[in-house]
Amino acid sequence: MDTGLNKKLFEEASFYIPGGVNSPVRAFKSVGGPPVFMVSAKGSKIYSYDNKEFIDYCLGWGALILGHSQASVVKTVKNQAEKAILLGAATEQETEFAKMIISAIDSIEQLRLTNSGTEAVMVAIRLSRAFTKRKKIIKFDGCYHGHVDYFLNSPGILDDLKKHTLTCSYNNLQEVKKTIKENKNNIAGIIVEPVAGNTGVILPEKGFLHGLKNLCRENNILLIFDEVITGFRFTFEGYQNILGIKPDLTCLGKIIGGGLPIGACGGKKEIMQMLSPQGEVFHAGTFAGNSMSVSAGLSTLNILRNTNPYKKIEDFTRQLCEGIKSLGKQFNIELKINYIGSLFSIFFTKSPVNDYASAQKQDIEKFKKFYHGLLNEGIYFSPSCFESNFISTSHSQKDIDKTLQAIEKIFKIL
Ligand SMILES: Cc1ncc(COP(=O)(O)O)c(C=O)c1O
Repeated sequence: MDTGLNKKLFEEASFYIPGGVNSPVRAFKSVGGPPVFMVSAKGSKIYSYDNKEFIDYCLGWGALILGHSQASVVKTVKNQAEKAILLGAATEQETEFAKMIISAIDSIEQLRLTNSGTEAVMVAIRLSRAFTKRKKIIKFDGCYHGHVDYFLNSPGILDDLKKHTLTCSYNNLQEVKKTIKENKNNIAGIIVEPVAGNTGVILPEKGFLHGLKNLCRENNILLIFDEVITGFRFTFEGYQNILGIKPDLTCLGKIIGGGLPIGACGGKKEIMQMLSPQGEVFHAGTFAGNSMSVSAGLSTLNILRNTNPYKKIEDFTRQLCEGIKSLGKQFNIELKINYIGSLFSIFFTKSPVNDYASAQKQDIEKFKKFYHGLLNEGIYFSPSCFESNFISTSHSQKDIDKTLQAIEKIFKIL
């Protein structure tokens, strides 16, 4: 692919914007080369600055389950913009939105909207500490919960904050048990992605999430499901409903905003009522519950509820992933592909990937070559081997066939 134009655009962007991007992984550091600069998108396709068409499997990092600029969502957003872009006051729409989410996810009795998944997680952690009057939080290696201070290792973050975060390996219940024992009566919450999507896709092993729920119950710890990726992804509910687990708090984002910025924290009434102004746990936001995001979210959720497209996208995902698996066998390429619902990722490794450590064993150089092969063929995956890919209701059989043909071509020379 001719990267001349992208290189020029990236150089200019890097002069004005740190690293040339407003969110790090967009810079293509994990796959090499300048990022492809995009200008427009419709349905399953995204278009670059130099008018190239790509089948998009990144889909706004999973926010666009209906694909790009879905007609009804666009119409709703346009109408809302005519009525009011920002009211900054109480609206009936917010109640309707909260009601819709509460009716879909069993464990959520009340819901507070935020502007991002990061903020939703901040609210959940603050609530868990206030409710339990404890400090420490257990998280899992490789799970990402946004750029929240206490979950990152970054200069500028106080050690005093990080010291309250304990990290265990995903799918390792014994380690969680041990950590709880060593920190008896000090753990406020356990936060987990019920399907990990930020080390590539990693599935929970049988018993892991139920085990966490039991450990939380036995030790008076709050269980927080970060369903920013998984919420409304596999069925019109959270992944928790499918599992039959009721976490104490749930974080949502991405899909529920229909492509506009959003986040939400919901859960048991007795915990949620601790939030200001009813309670003393502070949360606020100029744009929290803003009309544009809520209208796009309502429109998206209504479509998902009314059309129930989940089986179709799941079938396409299975077809694509099983197709890639057979091509791997045909061309003797060692790979593992993890998928569930419309979520998938490919790891170039021979061993199963079930936690952060096993994801690290993949052949990153091979992924880079594969990735640039995809770009050449007009396929846009998430630009890192540690990210998930997504399929939307706009993807077609033709898209899947074209993607498999492209991968066959790439595997022949990989
Ligand atoms: C599981 C999970 N939690 C939280 C976040 C943070 O959401 P946001 O980027 O909207 O702040 C992300 C973002 O990718 C995520 O994948």
